[in-house]
Amino acid sequence: MKHLLAIEGLSREQVERILDRTESFAEVGRRDIKKVPTLRGRTIVNLFYEASTRTSSSFELAAKRLSADLISIKSAGSAVDKGESLKDTIATLSAYDPAAIVIRSPQAGAAGLVAGWTDASVINAGDGMHEHPSQALLDVFTLRRRLGSLEGIKIWIVGDVTHSRVARSCLLAFGLMGAEVTLCGPPTLIPRGIAEATGVTVAYDFDGLGEADVVYALRMQNERMSESFVPSLREYAACYQIDSRRLGPRQLLMHPGPVNRGVELAPEVIDSPQSLITAQVESGLVVRMAILYELLTGTDRAKPERGPAPAEPPRIGQPA
Ligand code: CP
Repeated sequence: MKHLLAIEGLSREQVERILDRTESFAEVGRRDIKKVPTLRGRTIVNLFYEASTRTSSSFELAAKRLSADLISIKSAGSAVDKGESLKDTIATLSAYDPAAIVIRSPQAGAAGLVAGWTDASVINAGDGMHEHPSQALLDVFTLRRRLGSLEGIKIWIVGDVTHSRVARSCLLAFGLMGAEVTLCGPPTLIPRGIAEATGVTVAYDFDGLGEADVVYALRMQNERMSESFVPSLREYAACYQIDSRRLGPRQLLMHPGPVNRGVELAPEVIDSPQSLITAQVESGLVVRMAILYELLTGTDRAKPERGPAPAEPPRIGQPA
């Protein structure tokens, strides 16, 4: 495996290998000295064209824990502000001979393009509304640790599915691992045709929510909306907010963060014992160590491929 651009196209075996490796790094994380020499002498570039707290900090810490040299660039304050293109930025950074480039971009398909412009391994840290594969892997790891397996587990993904790269990666990853996925939200925020395209179930209300083992709430992605998809956040919250009346005592709660408190989640469930939100953040560090390990030292790593960049990623349906 040379790049991690998407969950789509990964096999269950590849996912399980990364998760098994993650267990080893979780063990390292319990030691007094949490650093290993695995990537000593290798360089990792973190290139973030969009805001991030969790993904950027955990990839940074993962690179440091693996003893790599790290360059962290945020678009604000870089030569991007002077008009430098993504392609020229990659050419510039590639001069340092990085082993990996971690990129977040508001453009769907950006990570795939970068993979065609550099010899480095490329990790998609979120590209527009397309995918966020490392988030899905850390979520699968979190659930596997808690439940042992995702086989037959019922997971409801609730909220703004249309604009969510997390939803797209998670529904694919959860399905790959044997979970039964239901997408729930207002019709305007569920892509038309997604059930037929992916095999998930779609619900527009909470009638069946009680059957879920896991409720995975999504943030309203206001920054990706060019029009209004719900009458108001107040009405959205009245219909779709997860609160202590709607979350049953045996159900687990997940959210990729950042949370809009009082919109998709009520404060009492965020801080409840059922919430896995902090565990998700903890998993992020060790899963990203395992991803870097897999791509930079993995046994089935392909030879560098600088073939043509993939086409624009397919959109699964349009908002209904
Ligand atoms: N879940 C996630 O991607 O969070 P950040 O935007 O903080 O990286």
